[in-house]
Amino acid sequence: MRVLVVGQGAREHAIAWKLRKSPLVKEIYVAPGNAGIAKVADCVNIGVADIIEIADFADKLKMDLTVVGPELPLTLGIVDEFQKRELPIFGPTRLAAELEGSKVFSKEFMRKYEIPTAESTICNSADEAKAALKKTKYPAVIKVEGLAGGKGVVIAKSSKEADDYLRLIFDEKKFGNAANRILIEEFLEGEEVSFMVITDGKKFAPIAPAKDYKKAFDGDKGPNTGGMGAHSPAVILNGETAGEVVKQIVIPAIQGMAEEGRTYTGCLYVGLMLTRKGPRVLEFNCRFGDPETQVQMLRLDDDLAEVFLNVARGNIEEVKLNWKKEASACVVVAVDGYPDEHMKGQEIAIDPINDPAIELFHAGTVKRGGKLLVNAGRVISVCSHAATLSEALAKAYQAVPKIRFEGARYRRDIGYRALEQRKQAVGE
Ligand code: AMP
Ligand code: GLY
Repeated sequence: MRVLVVGQGAREHAIAWKLRKSPLVKEIYVAPGNAGIAKVADCVNIGVADIIEIADFADKLKMDLTVVGPELPLTLGIVDEFQKRELPIFGPTRLAAELEGSKVFSKEFMRKYEIPTAESTICNSADEAKAALKKTKYPAVIKVEGLAGGKGVVIAKSSKEADDYLRLIFDEKKFGNAANRILIEEFLEGEEVSFMVITDGKKFAPIAPAKDYKKAFDGDKGPNTGGMGAHSPAVILNGETAGEVVKQIVIPAIQGMAEEGRTYTGCLYVGLMLTRKGPRVLEFNCRFGDPETQVQMLRLDDDLAEVFLNVARGNIEEVKLNWKKEASACVVVAVDGYPDEHMKGQEIAIDPINDPAIELFHAGTVKRGGKLLVNAGRVISVCSHAATLSEALAKAYQAVPKIRFEGARYRRDIGYRALEQRKQAVGE
């Protein structure tokens, strides 16, 4: 089987790495890939937004399966383009991907299908936003409607902070058309967790939940990022709550999307806040998570190619996902300054890591003139697996200093709270 993966992050590296283990898979291509991915697949120099070129490439090589990592090509309609050409692809269509592509659509959808989420007001102008903020308590959450690479959400602690952000949005047009409409949202308190399912639009198979650490700095301080680390199991999501999530959120979402004529296939990612009143949806994503995928792929016991193929063919009955008992952990080594301005182009040195339980999944790396260089804010996901979560975290943290480049920075507290919570739960 010949497979194409679209994307260039550590998520796509983990997917390609897992596909490489499948006896069904003979050739793997990744568009555009990165320096780490090049070790497990053939990288093809096509950008993720060039959906026609990607489809042409898949057509030419008679690709048996294409898997899409990031949201952008999905919201641009890559799945529709492939379906038009009868090329098998895993992911939602353009209309279904609006669940992530438009936070306004997503919020209205949740209201209509009574899916629990934060109270929110949709605003078309700075004046409307100011009026909505007058009725909201601080901290208040401000979200731009469209895709903003994880940077379109701020938690304003005061009306001054809110006003500054509104100026950025409406006067300086920092987000362009992505912020024609915004949401003013109630701040939810609790623990965040990521819950994903693979679905063919009717049935679904849950993926092992993972906990992602989205804030830039230790103690969950600083701006939101794409994710600075993760682990699976998520620890904080027990079976009972997972059951509630399925009943109150996953099933109504899949059924609702079908009713809207936007049948959802692929991976549906539910970003949750576990509040005292129960689970609430923070966001839907139309794809796998990053860095959640890295830890999930380390735990998946099944043949990933077979899973994708069955979903792409609509045979989800055949899909049963089995997870290793082991825990897995990921610490993202990023560049100082990320998610804002940061250095690029500095050389990366990787000291020998003599631990077979460590996997390095590359994100912002590129090879030039025989040197490995930094190419984006999140550089390498250092991942590990072990019998327990604390061992997996310890292993990952032992390996992290082996990744060396100017400005390397990582969070030192990934998994810390989860371990504390587990201790409390078992009364240690
Ligand atoms: P989103 O892209 O909507 O998931 O928002 C990005 C991040 O902002 C989330 O992962 C949360 O950490 C935070 N966030 C979003 N909405 C809320 C909310 N209503 N209350 C508290 N935090 C939020
Ligand atoms: N880790 C958060 C995301 O993938 O959106």
